[in-house]
Amino acid sequence: MIDDISLIEMAIEAREKAYVPYSSFKVGAAVLTKSGRVFTGCNIESASYSPTICAERTALSKAVSEGYREIDTVVVVGSLEKLSYPCGVCRQFIREFGKDIRIIVAKSTKAYKTYTIEDLLPESFGPEDLNNECL
Ligand code: THU
Repeated sequence: MIDDISLIEMAIEAREKAYVPYSSFKVGAAVLTKSGRVFTGCNIESASYSPTICAERTALSKAVSEGYREIDTVVVVGSLEKLSYPCGVCRQFIREFGKDIRIIVAKSTKAYKTYTIEDLLPESFGPEDLNNECL
């Protein structure tokens, strides 16, 4: 299994691909599946703003659309001197695939913090909370 430092390096590399003509704020992400695959992503902005997608959701969408729903870790790397935490939409999007997913919020391979999605989105609403009889 790939180590956390290598995952952070992959997220930093993915950040270079960010398409950010409006904010100039590059974000990179790397998603490690429980089976050991890694999918990377960057943020992609839109002239009409709201279609903008965050780096975490780009990477996770790549994993899920390739058939990988069992997620071990999500790494996010922003562009500031301080840590850039996942936005609320990304927290909810990640939580869909489990409460125990590890989240690594990194500035560099030397400065990062590790959480679970439960830490970042406590008392969350998720798939288990829907009444299946409604489906
Ligand atoms: N952004 C991310 O990629 N991930 C987050 O969790 C927070 C925000 C991006 C979206 C937008 O392109 C830029 O950062 C500024 O908000």
